Amino acid sequence: MFSFSNLSIPVIQAPMAGGVNTPALVAAVSNAGGLGSFGFAYTTPENIDADLRATQDLIRQAPQKRINANFFVFEEPIMPSPEQQRLALDDLQSVVGDLGVQSALPTSPYIPNLEDMLEPIWEHQLEVLTFHFGIPSQQVIEKAHALNISVGITATSLEEALKIQSAGADFIVAQGIEAGGHRGIFNPHAMDQQLSTANLLRALNGQVRIPVIAAGGIMNGQDIHQMISLGASAVQMGTAFLTALESGASSAHRRFVMEHHHLGTHFTKAFSGRSAQGIHNEFMKVMEGKTYLPFPVQNTMTAPMRKWALEKDEGHYQSLWAGRSYAKARALSTHDLMMVLHHEYLAAKVMP
Ligand SMILES: Cc1cc2nc3c(=O)[nH]c(=O)nc-3n(C[C@H](O)[C@H](O)[C@H](O)COP(=O)(O)O)c2cc1C
Repeated sequence: MFSFSNLSIPVIQAPMAGGVNTPALVAAVSNAGGLGSFGFAYTTPENIDADLRATQDLIRQAPQKRINANFFVFEEPIMPSPEQQRLALDDLQSVVGDLGVQSALPTSPYIPNLEDMLEPIWEHQLEVLTFHFGIPSQQVIEKAHALNISVGITATSLEEALKIQSAGADFIVAQGIEAGGHRGIFNPHAMDQQLSTANLLRALNGQVRIPVIAAGGIMNGQDIHQMISLGASAVQMGTAFLTALESGASSAHRRFVMEHHHLGTHFTKAFSGRSAQGIHNEFMKVMEGKTYLPFPVQNTMTAPMRKWALEKDEGHYQSLWAGRSYAKARALSTHDLMMVLHHEYLAAKVMP
């Protein structure tokens, strides 16, 4: 089974669904002694297979299966009344109509088929498989274990972490409120404790037996050292890799991360229907108080706008997911970023 002590740098490059994780990025992280990840939440089985093949061809310094594949545990959305659906569409259209974009109400099936998406993972027998938004079925965990694949699941509280441990998972990804992207809370309607990454680690310390990975706001080697000192076995960093040379983030996403520090970050449900943190752009602002549909229906409904914004290189209508410390991101090659992180981490260990 995979062990975090196999990593020469205790860094997992976070899974980031939506095109950020390229084979070149993932392979460069694993080649440098970390663990590269793919966020495959919205990827077709054919493209998952192609990405994994391309990545394994590029992995030379590590076992070729040293890849983490990540999926969402989607729940079938409960659709509101036709009137509410029309209201949400009208609200969105009142914003995107001015851009010349036409939105439409999606039709079922609303969620992808996890079983189909996992086929290429079983075939490639990767070292690590992780899930966000909850615990997958027992069959999935057992199948992964039968194939020697370690399973990790995101927790935002001690209660979720204990459920993950009871389900037989191999590690917990402890996601603090600083983290960019979707909040991994199991029940989006439940009260969110909003713990910082450090406080979540403190809450988990001594309460769970399986390894804990810290995620949220970790940008440099000092941060890594702090999290390891608080009991983490490794860290998961997303925002720090958005501006790496090999990242697939859009040019607007990179530009906003590097230059638009005055905007700060904000949580919104307007892009996807579930709470996610990103740079506080115009779309988030104008959607404040408007109606939206449940996850991931809202995501499908905003797709034409996001496509338009990508083509126009317009950051205000893309989902610019980023963590609260995004101003500390560095534009380096992935290899150089990994080397700098390692160097800073070793220096912090000697002189904290
Ligand atoms: C652009 C982006 C996309 C993300 N997509 C995913 C995802 O698909 N699956 C997942 O488990 N986490 C996802 N996350 C959350 C990360 O796993 C991690 O919790 C977060 O990046 C850590 O905080 P940081 O961004 O401050 O480093 C995403 C984060 C970002 C920034």
